[in-house]
This record gives sequence, structure tokens and C-alpha cells, in this order.
Amino acid sequence: MTRLKLAILISGRGTNMEAILQAARADDYPVNPVLVLSNRPDAKGLDTARAQGLAAIAVDHKPYSKDREAFERAVQQVLLEHEIEMVVLAGFMRILTPWFVGQWAGRMINIHPSLLPKYPGLNTHQRAIDAGDAEAGCSVHWVTEGVDEGNVIAQAPVPIEAGDSADKLAARVLLEEHKLYPRAVAIAAREILSKKKPLPV
Ligand code: GAR
Repeated sequence: MTRLKLAILISGRGTNMEAILQAARADDYPVNPVLVLSNRPDAKGLDTARAQGLAAIAVDHKPYSKDREAFERAVQQVLLEHEIEMVVLAGFMRILTPWFVGQWAGRMINIHPSLLPKYPGLNTHQRAIDAGDAEAGCSVHWVTEGVDEGNVIAQAPVPIEAGDSADKLAARVLLEEHKLYPRAVAIAAREILSKKKPLPV
């Protein structure tokens, strides 16, 4: 079967990346992860990926200072070198420019730790607790220019318990993320394969 060449972009520990790598061991999974890229050279997830035999590359954003697009052009070069066909953001904590989003429109997805459209941005769990919500959760969505605004592909709710702290809630949501993301990656990949959208050059 056709498997899309996948890049996973991370900034830290990479547990969602691990869940996707695990799922991709199945013969009928529609993506083939070939590259893990981090904007932080010290990201733990890079070591995990390397230990599994994947290309694991850091493109440090710091030397680019405030020039986001120059940083992204360096990232794009690595993606093109690896002939990437789909991009998954898994805890990648950089805001993307319209230029980069445009390169990967319809081929890039993100996981966010809230039930979108509630709580885009940061501190999602604390905001859900402070609002007195009965449930929190996670969402996987297509990446568009607006931060955490693209169409949702799949979501998983997680009940908020009495006395929950943001950390406790985040830990329970993370377990759901690990189930949700591999499933959503497969849904999105099958959609990309069915549309045969041209690749960036
Ligand atoms: C995950 O909880 C993910 O939802 C969140 O970062 C964490 C990464 O964990 N992403 C965002 O907040 C994006 N705005 P991981 O590195 O262990 O996968």
C-alpha cells in the first residue's frame, strides 16, 4: 500500500511522536515516519527517534532571532531533502508564518490539549479548571494560518475531577493524546492520499 513519507516536528519530550512511531509499525498504517525535526537541539524526543533508527535533526530557531520565516526556510529545506509528503506537529511550540502554512496546506496537522474551539493557545488545562468546565480533552486539527483554528479531525474528552490541578489533568489528557493522535494521523493521511494534492517544491 502507499504510505506517505512523514516528518514529525517536536520541541521537547516527544511522547506523542513515540505513539505515532509505535502505530506506524503496523503494515496497514498509511504513513511512514522518516524524519523527526526539533527546533530545540536538546529535545529529548530527538534521542528517542535516533534510538529507533530515524533521521533526527535539530534546526535551532535561536540564531534566526525574530525572523520566523528564515527559520522556517531552513526547516523547509530539510523537509524537501527528505521528500516529505505530510507533516505532523507533536508538541512543536513555534508559531508558524502564513508562508510555511501555505507550503503544507492540507498536508499538516497538529495536536492541541483542549477541546477546540475552546482554549486555543497556552495554559489550556488551567483555563478549563478556572472556567469550572466539566471536561477538558484534546483535539487534532488541520493547520491553517490562525493559531489552533483549522478544521478538527478528531477529539477526545477527559472529565475534570474535583481537586484537579493543571498538572494532574494534563497527565490524564496526555494519555488520551497518545490514543487519539495515531488514529487522527491515519484519518488525515488517508484523506491526503485520496486528494492527491501537489507537493511543495
Ligand atoms: C502535548 O500535550 C501537546 O498536546 C502539547 O504539547 C505536549 C507535547 O507533549 N501541544 C501544544 O500545546 C501545542 N500548542 P509531547 O512532547 O510529550 O508529545
